[in-house]
Amino acid sequence: MAILIQIGEFHSQETWRDGFLAVDPELDLRLWPDVGDPAEIEAVIVWHHVHGSLTQFPNLKVICNLGAGVEAIFHDPDLPADVPISRVVDPRLTRSMAEYVLLHVLRYHRRFAENQEFQAARQWKYVPSDDAADTTIGFLGMGALGLHSAEKIRNLGFRVAGWSRTEKSIEGMEMYHGPEGLGPFLGGLKMLVCLLPLTAETSGIINNDLLAQLPDDSFFINAGRGQHVVDEDLLAALDSGKLSGATLDVFHVEPLPKEHAFWTHPKVTITPHNAADSFPRDVCPQIIGNIKGVLSGKPPMNEVKLDRGY
Ligand code: NAP
Ligand code: GLV
Repeated sequence: MAILIQIGEFHSQETWRDGFLAVDPELDLRLWPDVGDPAEIEAVIVWHHVHGSLTQFPNLKVICNLGAGVEAIFHDPDLPADVPISRVVDPRLTRSMAEYVLLHVLRYHRRFAENQEFQAARQWKYVPSDDAADTTIGFLGMGALGLHSAEKIRNLGFRVAGWSRTEKSIEGMEMYHGPEGLGPFLGGLKMLVCLLPLTAETSGIINNDLLAQLPDDSFFINAGRGQHVVDEDLLAALDSGKLSGATLDVFHVEPLPKEHAFWTHPKVTITPHNAADSFPRDVCPQIIGNIKGVLSGKPPMNEVKLDRGY
């Protein structure tokens, strides 16, 4: 079996090759674009691959995504038919996302920006915060990342609400689902956290219509994808006072262009798409184990489906 590594953005193919070889030094790994004989390739490991490039492998058995979000695969109009696609679900990545969510929820909850302003002015001023028990944090997306982050927030004593595509019941959380559940979900929130996958249904979901349904003076945290947000609508909600702050990890164009209004907006916190990463030490064993499993007839791990988009 030969495995092709095709990693297109912000990562080194060589670093990942070394990570996979650390799992199994005997692997026959090919680094894009040096595929060798296409008929020998039985698995591909991709991140932002070249569209159309996966149709040339007649014996391809599995496509492995190096990260959690798979939209870059599904945006390829020439995906090989009937080849299963697996993504990464990894404990470290999941923990990192919860750290990110906790950091920014608590920063807003404890009004840390105001504290910093008082410090800069050498003012000894008490900044009160609300009781967490009266504060509802809402999660758009209650999958591997949303659910784990929501549990951590609930365990700190906050009220938690979650919105998913399918109906769910989770202890200690108010759950909503589907388009009809969105309005009731939004109405009681102090903070909205987006951990949705990017699909045809979720693209542009953070728009004027949704933002208008949030209470005044609420906060928004986006660690899903930049394309979930209509940037002009988010800026208008910040300027009107509907939103008191936004923390954004992901953007339409990354790196975020220097001229973008988000960079200098006083209510926006920007992080460079580093809420939760995949690291070779953590995910290479899972990916190689999955490939070997599929080639020996086992079902693919963490399979995603083109028809639902995630
Ligand atoms: P996941 O396990 O697939 O969960 C997706 C969640 O979104 C599920 O709860 C799903 O509902 C819900 N959902 C999907 N479409 C929906 C719709 N149309 N309406 C309502 N709910 C919908 O995904 P995950 O592993 O948690 O990851 C989520 C996303 O985080 C990834 O796709 C990626 O874009 C992003 N991410 C960002 C970073 C970063 O560093 N910023 C790192 C990793 C991942 P059901 O439960 O009903 O299926
Ligand atoms: C990172 O954004 C991922 O999808 O893993």
